[in-house]
Amino acid sequence: MIKNSKKLSSNDGLIIPKHIGVIMDGNGRWAKKRLLPRKFGHREGAKTFKKIALAGKAMGVEFMTFYAFSTENWKRPKDEVDAIMKLFEDYLDDVSSFEKENIRLIFIGDRSALSENLQKKMKHAEEISKDFDSMTVILAVNYGGQSEICRSVREIARKVKNNELQADDIDERLIEENLDTKEIPPVDLIIRPSGEMRLSNFLIWQSAYAEYYFTDILWPDFKEKDLADAIKSFSERSRRFGGV
Ligand code: IPE
Ligand code: IPE
Ligand code: MG
Repeated sequence: MIKNSKKLSSNDGLIIPKHIGVIMDGNGRWAKKRLLPRKFGHREGAKTFKKIALAGKAMGVEFMTFYAFSTENWKRPKDEVDAIMKLFEDYLDDVSSFEKENIRLIFIGDRSALSENLQKKMKHAEEISKDFDSMTVILAVNYGGQSEICRSVREIARKVKNNELQADDIDERLIEENLDTKEIPPVDLIIRPSGEMRLSNFLIWQSAYAEYYFTDILWPDFKEKDLADAIKSFSERSRRFGGV
């Protein structure tokens, strides 16, 4: 069910996407270029995340989803995974910067594989920010689009088994209502820095009609101006959603 809105808000003549997804890629290469361990790139990338979320808010973006850790990223060396998890914890100890900005924080992804401590902090951050309404920031942690769709379908299958639903009731709306993103509109624009031109399992359902913006800049080097460039490019696209 494609419900991206053609009527998006505008700012200085630009059409502002309601929901932007960002694949925060290139941290490792950024560190390598400086002969630093990869974890330094992740630390720098976390700073960029805050900066770009605030820039999105200033431009009037309502929802921004940041891909922070994929279901495939467990394949990395343990010390790198541990360093990334530690960064999440540190970040969640310091959500006050988002609190001040009245930004709501939501997490998507399969939390069950994360440490209990991290899960507790995520829940807490969601609870304290649930009424903040200047913008919604969604962090995708242990997120994979395929895993998300499987979890949705599993939930629906349970209901069919319990006779709460019939197989013929299954439609796009029902699948969407059981995704992690159930309260979030479809993504309008996906930005991927670092030169890679793929989705890597990010929002595969929600991006059915998304626009894409690729740039060679590595995520830690990504600036407010780069976000503005992506939005400008989005503004110039003609979105037809299958119509004419
Ligand atoms: C993205 O940067 C961060 C995560 C996937 C956690 P990378 O670590 O993938 O950086 P590159 O792609 O190796 O440069
Ligand atoms: C995608 O980046 C995941 C995140 C940015 C969290 P990857 O670096 O894991 O993607 P691939 O392996 O290049 O496809
Ligand atoms: Mg990468």
